[in-house]
Amino acid sequence: MTVRRVGLVGARGHTGRELLRLIGARGDLELAFASSREWAGRPVAEMAPEITTGLEFEALTPDAVSARDVDAVILALPNGAAAPFVAAIAEDTVIVDLSADYRFDASWTYGLPEIYGRDGLTAARRIANPGCYATAGQLAIAPVRGRLAGEAHVFGVSGYSGAGTAPSRKNDVEALADNLMPYALTGHLHEQEMTRHTGATVRFTPHVAAFFRGIVATTHLTLQSPMTPDAVRGVYEHAYAGEPLVRVTADIPEVRDGARQPGAVVGGFGLGGDGHQLVVVSVLDNLLKGAAVQAMQNLTLALGLPEGRYRPSPL
Ligand SMILES: NC(=O)c1ccc[n+]([C@@H]2O[C@H](COP(=O)([O-])OP(=O)(O)OC[C@H]3O[C@@H](n4cnc5c(N)ncnc54)[C@H](OP(=O)(O)O)[C@@H]3O)[C@@H](O)[C@H]2O)c1
Repeated sequence: MTVRRVGLVGARGHTGRELLRLIGARGDLELAFASSREWAGRPVAEMAPEITTGLEFEALTPDAVSARDVDAVILALPNGAAAPFVAAIAEDTVIVDLSADYRFDASWTYGLPEIYGRDGLTAARRIANPGCYATAGQLAIAPVRGRLAGEAHVFGVSGYSGAGTAPSRKNDVEALADNLMPYALTGHLHEQEMTRHTGATVRFTPHVAAFFRGIVATTHLTLQSPMTPDAVRGVYEHAYAGEPLVRVTADIPEVRDGARQPGAVVGGFGLGGDGHQLVVVSVLDNLLKGAAVQAMQNLTLALGLPEGRYRPSPL
């Protein structure tokens, strides 16, 4: 078996932790380096026992990353930090970037395989990994995209791991206790991302709640022609047939159906307005199908490896 070497920049973060676990679970990938400025010098296995190679975290500059012999680099950095690494890394090395920095760049491949396909990913060297809410919203919108009349409205609630590890009100457990915090009422990046990639006009209102991980997106859609509940469910089942990471259900999924699970659940399918008003509920784990699992799908497709099967996260 050919083993491909992968480097991870941003290994200390929430998504970095899941990526270490997912890379460690594969026999066809070897972690070549794990970069963290704060944890430099500490054994990776101290934080991620799945990595058994004795590797230590290193604080790597873009130039140091570019000097490493790797097939791929995953960037799990905050928004706005990827560019120096992208500029330094060789063109034939696969980059999967988890931030929003290249999701609007037409020279990058936007990697959401269940909606936009796998063909473009197999030869891709620059892959923009979608946002977590944006994945949930697009999974709800895409199957009926051609049937829409007007805007799609996505009401999203995320666990506070979505706000990363840098302290802010959005991951302050005291501020979140007994609370639900709306933010970015207009123009959120994921609103722009969903609009750009689905081609529908999307309105999106994010909220953060006191649970750690998981997202629920409740999406309101107006249909050009009335549909029945069975017909709607058939459309979604057809759209995601054969996709192990998207489950379609008539039930209304809840956050705990998606938290720690590798894939998404899409369901509910409420119909009102004489069959014109459709409400779809999608749930997923923001750190998994919303980030690390999706990044692994994109990475493996680009490297010509099997996408693999994913288990629930024990973290
Ligand atoms: N959390 C989610 O649910 C989620 C979902 C989808 C996408 N994303 C995106 O994924 C990316 C990572 O998110 P996260 O939640 O894992 O973030 P995080 O928990 O805040 O971790 C950020 C990581 O980047 C490193 N870092 C921070 N600033 C850096 C800089 N200027 N240069 C080099 N390293 C730097 C940090 O480690 P050191 O400080 O030790 O170097 C840390 O490892 C973000 O762009 C986020 O938008 C997150």
